[in-house]
Amino acid sequence: GKDGYRHFMEKELHEHPVAIGQTLQRITDSVTRRIALPPMPFDVATLPRVTITACGSAFYAGMVGRYWLEELARLPIDIDVASELRYRNPPQPNHGLALLISQSGETADTLGVLRELKAAGQHVVSVLNVEHSTMGRESDLVLGMVAGPEISVASTKAFTAQLSVLAALTIDFARQRGLIDEAKERELTDSLLDLPSHAMEVLGLFDQIRGMARVIAQARDILYLGRGICMPIAQEGALKLKEISYIHAEAYAAGELKHGPISLIDPSVPVVAIAPSTILFEKTLSNLQEARARGGRILVFTDAKGAEQLKDIAEHIIILPDVNAFVAPILYTIPVQILAYEVALLKGTDVDQPRNLAKSVTVE
Ligand code: F6R
Repeated sequence: GKDGYRHFMEKELHEHPVAIGQTLQRITDSVTRRIALPPMPFDVATLPRVTITACGSAFYAGMVGRYWLEELARLPIDIDVASELRYRNPPQPNHGLALLISQSGETADTLGVLRELKAAGQHVVSVLNVEHSTMGRESDLVLGMVAGPEISVASTKAFTAQLSVLAALTIDFARQRGLIDEAKERELTDSLLDLPSHAMEVLGLFDQIRGMARVIAQARDILYLGRGICMPIAQEGALKLKEISYIHAEAYAAGELKHGPISLIDPSVPVVAIAPSTILFEKTLSNLQEARARGGRILVFTDAKGAEQLKDIAEHIIILPDVNAFVAPILYTIPVQILAYEVALLKGTDVDQPRNLAKSVTVE
């Protein structure tokens, strides 16, 4: 049941800390507190390339994974949504890795790519919530999330659990490729293991986020902006808003604003920014100043340091706990999803069963 919550989505939003914590617990050595993934069915040190694919929210998790794996494990990445990758037929290296991400393990296009990449000689590793699924059976290795059942059609805790696995995989790969020393590994791992308590703090922000939701609920179009590893979180925010509130939202890399979408900005098109002070902040700040100068209403998720610099241009600022930049995309997901939930409540939509959508998309 809903355990006293109004919707499964509300309940599942409150399960972020547990989903992250349990997922990490399963892949952390309890004595050394080091990440301990099962052995990969290939040599990580000589891995030539990784192809990441998924659909919807799981694809945005994969995008975050791309930034991590490129930056820390120095791996060349190809990434695309499964429905495109499936028909692109890109050249594959010998013994590359196909990394698939799916909550259900049944999504038709992701499964289609799995089969094709396997036939093309790639090792298949899947990040799944439902491990006893078709993708689970057909993968060489399953990295399970421990998010528990996700009932609401809009994905919430599965997304942060996916990111937790991908972050752990990045640490594991970087270590095996000799790219991080013990101190760096400790720093990254500790920032991950501290996430459940920071996620709990974020769950205290529902009331503040409701204030921001009131601005969004009155608008027809919303722009979500982010840079670097926060760009996929802007995409996740826009997708979630569209799905459950039926308000049109688009996500842009903040640097792309002046190449087109800035022409949309006026007081009727609010701008939501994902802007921790640790990630390309000065760049994002200047993009937001440009938007503000054109009458845009600026709504931001940042930390205390970022808030100090944004206070003159932003109408609503949600201040999140200070965290290592490595885990910021995981933490910032939570308020962005809460925002979509609060807007849907104001709109009075069917939050758990949005029109036209199914939880598991087993047709193409
Ligand atoms: C978004 C959402 C969908 C799924 C997508 C992939 O809230 O729920 O975009 O993320 O259909 O589903 P899985 O992860 O089951 O492959």
